[in-house]
Amino acid sequence: MPGYKIISKINNGVFTTHGLLVSLEGIDGCGKTTQVALLQARLEQNQIPFIAVREPGGTAVGEGIRQVLLQSSYSLTAEAELLLYMAARAELSRQVIIPALLKGRLVLCDRFTDSTLAYQGYGAGMDLQWIKQLNRKATAGRLPDLTFLLNLSAEAAAARRGNPPDRMEKKDLRYHRRVQRGYLEIARYEPERVAVLDAAIDAEALGDEIWHRLCKHLEKESQ
Ligand code: TMP
Repeated sequence: MPGYKIISKINNGVFTTHGLLVSLEGIDGCGKTTQVALLQARLEQNQIPFIAVREPGGTAVGEGIRQVLLQSSYSLTAEAELLLYMAARAELSRQVIIPALLKGRLVLCDRFTDSTLAYQGYGAGMDLQWIKQLNRKATAGRLPDLTFLLNLSAEAAAARRGNPPDRMEKKDLRYHRRVQRGYLEIARYEPERVAVLDAAIDAEALGDEIWHRLCKHLEKESQ
């Protein structure tokens, strides 16, 4: 990666980093959307150049694929579902994420590669190695630098979700429990990258925790 920098003043200190790819992950209802909004506000306040994207989506084709994937009246084979998530990711990575990283931006992803491992892999039982290979192809190998996993039980998350459920939310509680356990497995294998955070706590306090951890990462990069 070229030597670009993000420079921002936080707490009177100057923080620098190379383009940074940050993802937020968790099961449906974990409060991820709220946390993405809080983090965006903080990045803006501190004048850190960033872009925020969501998966599936973030490009014209990706948003079209999202509608197909989440349309509750459709039924999809596990293979088609997996490949559609990957197609949306290939578009987003190559058209939006990688160009932004090359300009030194911080990229904030509302879901990314771990979602497919957790949902299609641990949740639906698709081959984990195949998913990892596809993730590498779809992203041109540019995987997240830092991931915040909002950890909440499947039961608590289901109680928080609004109605009507989309095609993924309609899957039963056992599926969502497998996804939840899958996320924890991913974090266990990559503790340096994946920070597991208690999503049952107050949203503002969780936002502070995420911000604090992100700042540390920026500081570390500047040394
Ligand atoms: P969300 O935008 O509300 O998080 O909805 C996206 C849904 O798609 C959510 O149920 C998780 C699911 N999903 C997968 O199953 N695999 C993936 O790779 C991604 C990105 C999302």
